[in-house]
Amino acid sequence: MKVLVVGGGGREHTLVWKLKQSSHVDKIYCAPGNGGIAQDAECVPLAAEDLHGLADFAQEKRIDLTVVGPEAPLTAGIVDIFKSRGLKVFGPDAKAACLEGSKVFAKEKMTRYGVPTAAYRVFYDAAAALEFVRELNGPCVVKADGLAAGKGVIIAKNRAEAEQAVRLIMEERAFGDAGKAVVVEQLLKGEEVSVLAFTDGKTIKTLAASQDHKRVFDGDEGPNTGGMGAYSPAPVYTSELHEKTVKDILEPVIYGLADDGIKYKGVIYAGLMVTSEGPYVLEFNCRFGDPETQVVVPRLKSDLLEVMNAVIEERLDEVELEWDPRAAVCVVAASGGYPGAYEKGKVITGLDELPPDILVFHAGTALSNGKLVTSGGRVLGITGFGATIEDAVKRVYSGVERIHFEGIHYRRDIAHRALKRGMLND
Ligand code: AMP
Ligand code: GLY
Repeated sequence: MKVLVVGGGGREHTLVWKLKQSSHVDKIYCAPGNGGIAQDAECVPLAAEDLHGLADFAQEKRIDLTVVGPEAPLTAGIVDIFKSRGLKVFGPDAKAACLEGSKVFAKEKMTRYGVPTAAYRVFYDAAAALEFVRELNGPCVVKADGLAAGKGVIIAKNRAEAEQAVRLIMEERAFGDAGKAVVVEQLLKGEEVSVLAFTDGKTIKTLAASQDHKRVFDGDEGPNTGGMGAYSPAPVYTSELHEKTVKDILEPVIYGLADDGIKYKGVIYAGLMVTSEGPYVLEFNCRFGDPETQVVVPRLKSDLLEVMNAVIEERLDEVELEWDPRAAVCVVAASGGYPGAYEKGKVITGLDELPPDILVFHAGTALSNGKLVTSGGRVLGITGFGATIEDAVKRVYSGVERIHFEGIHYRRDIAHRALKRGMLND
């Protein structure tokens, strides 16, 4: 089979790496890919947002399956376009992808289906939103309704910050039309966990749980990023919590959407806050997480292509997901200055000195005159394994330390919550 993966980050590199291992796959293309993906797939210079260009390419090359990585093409309807042209594609259609594309839509559905999520109000008017946060007069979370590359959520510690957030999103339109509406919600306290599941709209099969690290510096300090590292499994996610997540969150959403005429097919990502009252949904994403994919997918022993086909053909009930019992930890190596301004084009060295059990997934790399150079904020995701999370942490850092490029920075405390939990349980 010929497969096309859409996207060009660490998540897509991991999907390419995994799909390449399938005995059904003869050839993989990736659009647009990156410098590292080019070692595993043929990169095609088409942007992930060029929906018709991608469909033309898939038709021309007789692609058997297209796998869509990022949310932007999914919410823009890439699946609808591919399907209308008779092309096989993995991911939710535009209607189902609204679960990520519109926070108002997601909150309204969760309320309708009785899914635990923070109490909230929706505003389409800045003056009304400002009046509300003034009355609230305390901490809250202000969220732009639409896609904002992970930056549209502002945790306001007090009234002044909440007012500033409303102004930034609704008046200054810092995230463009994503700020036509805002959700103002209650600030939840607890530990976060990412739970992904495959679903064909009828059957739900969860993936191993993981935890992301969004802040740029150690100790969860500094601004939010796309994700500085991840680990799986997540000890906070107990079997009791898992049962609750499936019964109180995933099933009501997938079956509720189906009753509302929306068949969700693909992977659903539930970002949860584990509170003293159980799991609450912070957000849904309509795609694999990044960098969660870099720890979850390498732990999947089953053939990913077979799973994806089963989702598309609505026979997910026939598939069993098998997991590697080892723990996986991913550390993201970022460019100096990220998530602010950073320089590109720095030569990357040390990758050929890594032992084979350490995986390197490229996010922002390019080939320049035959040399691998940095081309993005998050440059590499380095994944290591171990019998325990502690072992995997030691292993992965022994690899990360050998990698160099000017300005490289990475967190040295990935998985710190799991390690602390382990110490308490000893
Ligand atoms: P989202 O893009 O909705 O996942 O939000 C980004 C991040 O903001 C989440 O991963 C949480 O760390 C935080 N967050 C979002 N909503 C809330 C909430 N209601 N309470 C506390 N933190 C939140
Ligand atoms: N790691 C967060 C996300 O993929 O949205």
